[in-house]
Amino acid sequence: MTKKLNILVLAGDGIGPEVTAEAVRVLQSVAEAGGYNFEFRHELIGGVAIDARGTPLPQTTIDAALASDAVLLGAVGHNKFNALSPSQRPEAGLLQIRAALGGFANLRPSFAWPGLAVNSPLRPEVVEGADILFVRELLGGLYFGEPRQWDKTAGSAWNTMRYTRDEVVRVAKVAFELAAKRRSKVTSVDKANVLEVSQLWRATVTEVAKDYPGVALEHQYVDAMAMHIMNTPRSFDVVLTENLFGDILSDEAGVITGSLGMLPSATIGGKVDLYEPVHGSAPDIAGKGIANPLGAILTAAMLLRYSAGLDQEADAIETAVKQVLGQGHCTADLARGERSAHVLSTQEMGERVQEALNDIVFRRQAMHAV
Ligand code: IPM
Ligand code: MN
Repeated sequence: MTKKLNILVLAGDGIGPEVTAEAVRVLQSVAEAGGYNFEFRHELIGGVAIDARGTPLPQTTIDAALASDAVLLGAVGHNKFNALSPSQRPEAGLLQIRAALGGFANLRPSFAWPGLAVNSPLRPEVVEGADILFVRELLGGLYFGEPRQWDKTAGSAWNTMRYTRDEVVRVAKVAFELAAKRRSKVTSVDKANVLEVSQLWRATVTEVAKDYPGVALEHQYVDAMAMHIMNTPRSFDVVLTENLFGDILSDEAGVITGSLGMLPSATIGGKVDLYEPVHGSAPDIAGKGIANPLGAILTAAMLLRYSAGLDQEADAIETAVKQVLGQGHCTADLARGERSAHVLSTQEMGERVQEALNDIVFRRQAMHAV
């Protein structure tokens, strides 16, 4: 079978180009080993697009994204644009492409990688074994709700947290489907003791749960949830949230892994799925070759799993990452204790993963041959 996949790479700002380059190389290794045909095209988004074209999301980028099988994004944002209004900043390009592609379910796994507990400020016995999958609603809530405005003469500003029942149903279904394939528990996050929109959220999720009798549902208020994630991260399986709550809690959950640089994400449910590491553009370390590419590489694994049905290859990438970390290697963000003797550059880390991956694939092929 020759699998063909057109991947649009939107490297974006800051460390985006460095980390996506490693993710692309890993995908190329997979293509080579499996005889797949992956084609990569590159377009602009974010600050680099503002500099080159005067807009954070040129139409050519939207067209290329809609014509692709999957979009792999690096990061957007640079503090030189801080004075601009939200609608003109690099981040607006990201929000616009999310809307254009239509993916409403943003999957953000937060996994306590073996051996990385030392990087977490939490005690090892608290984080070890934690494996949370956030399902963050990505197209509604305060990010997109109207009306929104900063009325400078009146000295007031407002945004709107709005959800329709249908928007909650579709993302809740994704959470329950995924939970059924994992440890069969959904924790739905809201602020139903204060917000009407959260009352709609809670009532709707409870209704959807009836179609999934094998999956346990619990509700948590977002403030309490922020505490539980730190206290008992192991007690969660799938965590379902609206847009802003998920933005905040998924960064918090980065603490489980020890570095935001480890977190991948996939946005599914739309016309074309969108893949981006959770970390930002990190302008302070951009261009130095020290950024952690593992978030982007693990994002590439999610791309293979969700957009190409290449589960084995996705597993192989994750195993390769585990092996490299298990050998004590790290990038600067993960350098603690004994590990600091093995600090790799972005590219070296990418190469180690490719070597481990080739080994895994080679062994697998040898096994099939006998
Ligand atoms: C994220 C980011 C984005 C968000 C920003 C850059 C718009 O923080 O993907 O978590 O808030 O969704
Ligand atoms: Mn965020």
